[in-house]
Amino acid sequence: MAFSRIELRNFRCFEALTIDISSNSNLFYGKNGCGKTSILESIYVASCGRSFRTSNLEALIKNGSKSFKIRAYDDNTGSILEVNKTKSKAINIKINNSLVTISELARTFPSFSIDSKTFFYNDNAPDYRRKHLDRGLFIASPDYAKDWFGYFRGLKQRNAALKIGDISQAKAYDDALIDHGTKLNFLRENLVLEVKKIYADFVQTLEEHNKRARLFSEIDIYLKSGFNDKLGLEESLLQSNSADLKRKTTNQGPHKADIIFESKGLLIKDTFSRGEQKLLSILWSLSQNIYLEKFFKLSPILLLDDLSSELDAEMLDCFLPIIKYIENRFIFSNIVDSFNSKIDFSEQSFKKFHVEQLT
Ligand SMILES: Nc1ncnc2c1ncn2[C@@H]1O[C@H](COP(=O)(O)OP(=O)(O)O)[C@@H](O)[C@H]1O
Ligand SMILES: [Mg+2]
Repeated sequence: MAFSRIELRNFRCFEALTIDISSNSNLFYGKNGCGKTSILESIYVASCGRSFRTSNLEALIKNGSKSFKIRAYDDNTGSILEVNKTKSKAINIKINNSLVTISELARTFPSFSIDSKTFFYNDNAPDYRRKHLDRGLFIASPDYAKDWFGYFRGLKQRNAALKIGDISQAKAYDDALIDHGTKLNFLRENLVLEVKKIYADFVQTLEEHNKRARLFSEIDIYLKSGFNDKLGLEESLLQSNSADLKRKTTNQGPHKADIIFESKGLLIKDTFSRGEQKLLSILWSLSQNIYLEKFFKLSPILLLDDLSSELDAEMLDCFLPIIKYIENRFIFSNIVDSFNSKIDFSEQSFKKFHVEQLT
């Protein structure tokens, strides 16, 4: 499902706002503080019950009001989504008048946000990148979610046994870890392999427009499984028994996985400028969304806040041709609308909203 209209009541700075969004690209532009991030945030909340800015949902209620409401309509299916949040009450989400859980919501209206954290994807801890990778697979594949829970349940129990120094009890969970962990690793590897192909196509298109984009094709991207690939998970677990006992935790396994981005043998975070890192993160996230659409028949919304912050004019120019090739719903914000002359949108519907004039 995908939204075509969204209505806000008492959400952040908006008392009442209705937006009809295009099924392709949407730009929200306007000066600082006019509400661009809030609009993107409302779409994110409507698709996963959380905000990308804060864990405190009460902050989203307009000052002086008791509750906020988001209503979203899907023209194709006629479905109506309603999100209500009243002060000191839990968030309430209904699809066609029936209550749904947050994971049901995330599967029905998946969205991914590229925000200030994702921009510096490579600067974050491995845990952040693992979550970014897992969230997509989690939403897309019920099998992945099953194996993820199976793996982490086993891991928790194994670590509890290691804490009290009981290796035979700890080893009792190895079969569960091997079974679920191998499947997790397989799906992650597959994702990285396929997303890399999409990414490579993107970069090739960019290079045809701007030579500076070559930088992005000289990157090695690979999954670090979190265990010794040559040995496999079973043997890796076996060989790390004494280290596990000593450190009282499981040292090998998919819970230690990471995606590595390197250029000429050096980590991106140590060599790329902030603007270059940001563009790389955008390209990678876009590619991941396209993969999810292609292989799992999801139609994820991609949210990108403040497109041009940290990007110089040439870097921005590097990216613009890409917008045309994004077939998913792409919703982004920028301080100014500088896209008119630079993008040929004749083949897709591109909507622009001057946020200051919406209310
Ligand atoms: N709960 C709230 N009630 C009323 N106004 C709010 C609330 N939260 C944030 N704001 C205000 O909403 C305005 C829009 O913020 P934001 O969406 O971040 O703007 P932009 O992204 O366009 O710079 C800001 O002036 C901010 O102070
Ligand atoms: Mg903003």
